Amino acid sequence: MDIEQIKTQIDSEIKEIDSAQALEEFRVKYLGRRGLVAELTGVIPTLPLEGRAKYGQEVNALKNKLNALIEEERKSFGSGSQYAREEAVDISMPGIAQELGRLHPITQINDEICSVFTQMGFSIVEGPEIENEFNNFTGLNIPLNHPSREAFDTFYINNKLLLRSHTSPVQIRVMQSRKPPLAVVVPGRVYRPDAVDASHSFMFHQIEGFMVDTDIKFSDLKGILEVFAQAIFGQSIKMRFRPHFFPFTEPSAEVDISCIMCKGKGCSVCGRKGWLEILGSGMIHPNVLKNVGYPAKKYSGFAFGMGVDRIAMLKYGINDIRLFYENDLRFLRQF
Ligand code: PHE
Repeated sequence: MDIEQIKTQIDSEIKEIDSAQALEEFRVKYLGRRGLVAELTGVIPTLPLEGRAKYGQEVNALKNKLNALIEEERKSFGSGSQYAREEAVDISMPGIAQELGRLHPITQINDEICSVFTQMGFSIVEGPEIENEFNNFTGLNIPLNHPSREAFDTFYINNKLLLRSHTSPVQIRVMQSRKPPLAVVVPGRVYRPDAVDASHSFMFHQIEGFMVDTDIKFSDLKGILEVFAQAIFGQSIKMRFRPHFFPFTEPSAEVDISCIMCKGKGCSVCGRKGWLEILGSGMIHPNVLKNVGYPAKKYSGFAFGMGVDRIAMLKYGINDIRLFYENDLRFLRQF
């Protein structure tokens, strides 16, 4: 085959190339170590001297032409072209799935409880975790000598600031900044220097609730809490008020629900009592209304506060509060 023939052949072959692989085969055929160009070059020493130079130039020109053609063709199949990417990435391979996260069980229960109250018209308000003494104690009618003010019951930051030990200070904040009628729930973290064990943590979660208007009665508190208890624990749950004392409510009561494990018969979870304490509550003390500048004769209200961790533990049958805070995925993935 003379060189002119080869050129014609190359021109027609290059038109047929439709993939990077075919282009590579073409390159090997002509420019490979045992390709046609190598073969043509190999015969040069055997040629008569006078024709060698011309022939050598022709072979060289052919080689350059091939290089140029391949380079040109590569642009359509080379790296960066859509074709190259499809070849480099096997799009039929299984993908790498993104792991889907989920809400922490405390967040789930917290949202569930809050939504029971927002459906009854309550609004959600949050307050700061660093509070002053007035909002956490004084405004709430907690006397200076009350044991909860002691340093071993409250984390103090300095003389004036502390980590709130309950969500009740947000009652003060809201009442000082708004006028009745008020129906508010306050979810948030609270802090107490308790030794950590299965039922105590230095930080836990509360939801405060309160309602203030011109004619709020204890029966309103009872009705609202019954809706809440049945929404969270089931329609068959029973509820009872047990007289108690809180400085910021009068009268005050702790609220129990019938034990969700034994249905009130008495078991190890409820300490054979058949009842489980779930929250503290009462009618807002007139001194608290006075402390925020409300005319105590005009307004009345109720308030309650519950531990979210405890409610989650009861609802899911969890016997150790520390499980919520250890980040053990084997535990968290169950919710
Ligand atoms: N603040 C109380 C506590 O942390 C709970 C409570 C709130 C009781 C509102 C009565 C009314 O124990």
